[in-house]
Amino acid sequence: MLLGSKRFSWVAPLVVKVLGVNAIFHDPAAALIVDGQVLAAAEEERFSRRKHGKRPVPFSAWELPELSAAWCLEYAGLDPGDLDAVAYSFDPARCGDLAGTGLRDPWDPLRVDYAVRAPQFLAEALPGLDPAQVVFVPHHVAHAASAALAVPPDGGDTAVLVLDGRGEATSHLAGVYRDGVLSTLASQRLPHSLGLLYEDLTRHLGFLHSSDEYKVMALASYGNPRFLPQLRELVRATGDGGFRVERIDWTALTKPRAAAAEMTDDHADLASSVQARLEEVLLDLVRWTYDAAGGPATLTMAGGVALNCVANARIAAEGPFSRVWVQPAAGDAGTALGAALHVANEAAHCPGGDAAHDTAPGAASGAAFSAASGAAAGVAPVVAPMTGADLGRGWSDDELEAELRRAALPYTRPASIAAEAAEVLARNGIVAWFQGRSEYGPRALGHRSLLAHPGDRDTTARMNDVKGREQFRPIAPMVRAERFADVFEGVYPSPYMLFVHRVRPEWTDRIPAVVHVDGTARVQTVHREREPVVAAMLAEFERRTGLPVVVNTSLNTAGRPMVDTPREAMELFGSAPVDLLAIGPFAVHRGSAFGGVPGSASGSGR
Ligand SMILES: [Fe+2]
Repeated sequence: MLLGSKRFSWVAPLVVKVLGVNAIFHDPAAALIVDGQVLAAAEEERFSRRKHGKRPVPFSAWELPELSAAWCLEYAGLDPGDLDAVAYSFDPARCGDLAGTGLRDPWDPLRVDYAVRAPQFLAEALPGLDPAQVVFVPHHVAHAASAALAVPPDGGDTAVLVLDGRGEATSHLAGVYRDGVLSTLASQRLPHSLGLLYEDLTRHLGFLHSSDEYKVMALASYGNPRFLPQLRELVRATGDGGFRVERIDWTALTKPRAAAAEMTDDHADLASSVQARLEEVLLDLVRWTYDAAGGPATLTMAGGVALNCVANARIAAEGPFSRVWVQPAAGDAGTALGAALHVANEAAHCPGGDAAHDTAPGAASGAAFSAASGAAAGVAPVVAPMTGADLGRGWSDDELEAELRRAALPYTRPASIAAEAAEVLARNGIVAWFQGRSEYGPRALGHRSLLAHPGDRDTTARMNDVKGREQFRPIAPMVRAERFADVFEGVYPSPYMLFVHRVRPEWTDRIPAVVHVDGTARVQTVHREREPVVAAMLAEFERRTGLPVVVNTSLNTAGRPMVDTPREAMELFGSAPVDLLAIGPFAVHRGSAFGGVPGSASGSGR
């Protein structure tokens, strides 16, 4: 596998090897930081092939990201015993009186018991690891670090806002990093939770909660927010950085929808209303955070709510911050990275610290490293900023060619895989695009992508058929950064597809496949210096069609995690009407692989 293909020229003052682990709720993941650099980060689902890794029930809390953790160590050539610390993104000591959370889950203590025993479980999963090396990092501190310690710095303080379903006993953290040290400004105790509010709505609308919230966000665009007055009574900011979410009788608003039942206007109206109220409350929280943090330029965000790209766009457009940066793995998977970043950062700020002074809110607890927040003001962060989400597995050209030979697939090595793919796309073909290391987080960002022509109105239905998705769900565009402003309005740059953008009127008829019902698109901007092959493909496509945009969706089929390995890419290519597999520098055309006319499996030809 590729090793060290895109490392930073970063000098850290300490040699610290920290493995981050998320295991407590869902999206188990692992991340590895060595000498202040993020070497590897991956979600367990890409290895286990189980979407989201596991269901978020207390009974599954013991399950660890064993495969992704083992791969992170293998990638860096480390044994578990080489690690200075394992950072676990949940601190059972902060759960307090669970009855006080108001969540009334009789099995919650089981989750806490499992978390308490996580060091022993980890030592079992990673032979050679000393359980005493395991550090508990508060869940929302891990989310906060995943954003504020990963953002490319602007020279000033960095505000951070975390919102998710729940952590130990809270659902939110507003804070500010000054010289790399977190000060918590506000946090909201459970049961009040904007993330759980959206999960409850997701369940009421017949989708899978803790999984399908993005479908509800897409559905919201079709509705009229006619329940907004009631929701303004029930969900509100409290003016002190926190908020209230009262108990909601969902059925009184709209009948529940069974999983396979038809979607009605009422369902879309309810989704629209909750989405609108969420945006309003988020804007209140963002403005409060800005004032409390002293008006810094940059807001960073993480937590599952930060994957709501419609709300993010409003925060960027209407909020007071001049820059809004969202961690691409904003969900719980990102806490593996965040926990490791936090511990690596704390280790540098307070080397040799002991657990005895670890009492301040926001500090990690455990034996290996600890430092109270605010204890080391004046010291800059010592972890390298994040410049891309391609932190997962990758294969060399020789390894890819060996895989193609093993599968006995007829392949070529064209002069330019970018031009080869653009040619197929221009003829309205579908391309499976497998390049470099896989993405960390839920978005395909040009490494494990399914690409198509944006100018054909039928492309959305074709892609949703390939992937077995609901037809109301939009598909997204990628665009070269230098062409973004010609086609779209709004936040720029947007390399992680975490904001929606209005499509300029003169383009809506030219790229109808990527324009959602509300006139927006969820854009990925592609920067040539960071993604040269993807940028070249986009340029070649524009040269052939005059369109600077290509449809980009994740390389997977319904209900499955994204493709991670060459074998999985070939399995998808063999089972779906894809015209070209562009895998590294190699091309496999459907026609040559399975007979028929190359480039015509699904397209009508252009
Ligand atoms: Fe979370």
